[in-house]
Amino acid sequence: MTSAIEDTRLLDDLAALLGPRGFTRDPADLAPWLVDWRGRVRGAALALVSPADARQVAAVVTLAAAAEMPLVPQGGNTSMVAGATPPAHGRALILSLRRMRAIRSVSAADGVAIVEAGVPLQALHEAAEAEGMRFPLSLAAKGSATIGGLVSTNAGGTQVLRFGPMRALVLGLEAVLPDGSVFNGLSALRKDNRGYDLRQLLCGAEGTLGLVTAAALRLVPAIGARAVAWVGLDTPEAALGLLRRLEAATGAAVESFELVPADAVDLVLRHIPGARAPLRKSHRWNVLIEATAPKGAPDPAEAMQAVLAAGLEDGSLADAVIAASETQAEALWALRETISEAERADGVAAKHDVAVPVSAMPGFITSGRAAVEARFTGTRVIAFGHLGDGNVHFNVRAPAGADAAAWLAEEGAAVNAYVHDLVVAAGGSISAEHGIGQTKLAEYARLAEPARLAAQRAIKAALDPRGLMNPGKLVPLA
Ligand code: MLT
Ligand code: ZN
Repeated sequence: MTSAIEDTRLLDDLAALLGPRGFTRDPADLAPWLVDWRGRVRGAALALVSPADARQVAAVVTLAAAAEMPLVPQGGNTSMVAGATPPAHGRALILSLRRMRAIRSVSAADGVAIVEAGVPLQALHEAAEAEGMRFPLSLAAKGSATIGGLVSTNAGGTQVLRFGPMRALVLGLEAVLPDGSVFNGLSALRKDNRGYDLRQLLCGAEGTLGLVTAAALRLVPAIGARAVAWVGLDTPEAALGLLRRLEAATGAAVESFELVPADAVDLVLRHIPGARAPLRKSHRWNVLIEATAPKGAPDPAEAMQAVLAAGLEDGSLADAVIAASETQAEALWALRETISEAERADGVAAKHDVAVPVSAMPGFITSGRAAVEARFTGTRVIAFGHLGDGNVHFNVRAPAGADAAAWLAEEGAAVNAYVHDLVVAAGGSISAEHGIGQTKLAEYARLAEPARLAAQRAIKAALDPRGLMNPGKLVPLA
């Protein structure tokens, strides 16, 4: 049993260990970190602790374990599933890794960067670029999302098509395990066959098995040339057909293939200052495409132009534009990357992050949308995102004129269950890239195969027997 006196003693010990930069109980300091990015889940915590290095993280974990105090790890707090939000009961500490911002090394010779957990993704992009290299994972929250969070959620984003999600880019990890021991697996070996892969276990574990303090990450050569296009077309099937033709024509050069419906373009134009329509007319579906080549390799623009011209000629595409400058390319990307922000500004929606086999996704979008809109009168589905990965954000918006928050409170659970049942029936996943966190936990428990749940619970119990690491996330209680 723990007592309030023991909690006070723990807080005093942590304050002494970490000093004023690493420990605060000031409500103003805590406030921004108690609510999730979408502003939907609010928690409480006894303190915000911010260790400066892995040694301090290990000391915090050891003290917290002795006091049976839950720890909620946090990076940029950009989780889409409230994965970094503390529990409502408030007997927990937020453990921020944001002070651990060192880029320990960037080696072009090895194609590896070793970076600490609190480094924002954008800072890693810049550090790699300075060495003529590139870290090939990107997402809209790159300015605030941190490496520790990206590893712990096995983040996806807009360039998974060619280089895979975070899991494919993690070559090594340093982590503090729930007993306070430090796992030093940063050596970035390209081959290592010593049994269970702890790195991959921690990747996507949402902080439930330990705390990632640093990662060795794969780099690829910097971009020599890139071609960015925006295409208007009639159906998701036409979009996928275009992807296959582009792949055949450009080799592996296509990195991003993002599906954007007309409704999403409208939301961006309405809510994001400075946004401009990319094509003369509105099209039911659009794709944003990026193909790249390293320095010295053929520019993919020519092949892309030929494929787009052929598509316009045979009528499979309605309109297309290739960015003529970096500024234009960035403007096209901004249209895609501000969809979530525009959606949020427009009012809450029932959000889903789903995957089905790539070839089944066009059919899923069309039939799933019709089924949802028929079942929940007045709703509108906006399905956008990573068509090339078989992953879209299948968001259901409240009926026009309805109070979106009240609608979500009343209908949200039924909508979620309906969409997820469609996904499971299609052999898919209810979380393609955002993780389970808190907001998907009940649905995950309802729908996951028993063998998966049993194995997951056994791993959790073995590594974190007291259940102190990010409790209430990812692993449903038995
Ligand atoms: C995206 O692809 O834009 C992100 O995953 C965010 C979202 O789903 O809203
Ligand atoms: Zn996404």
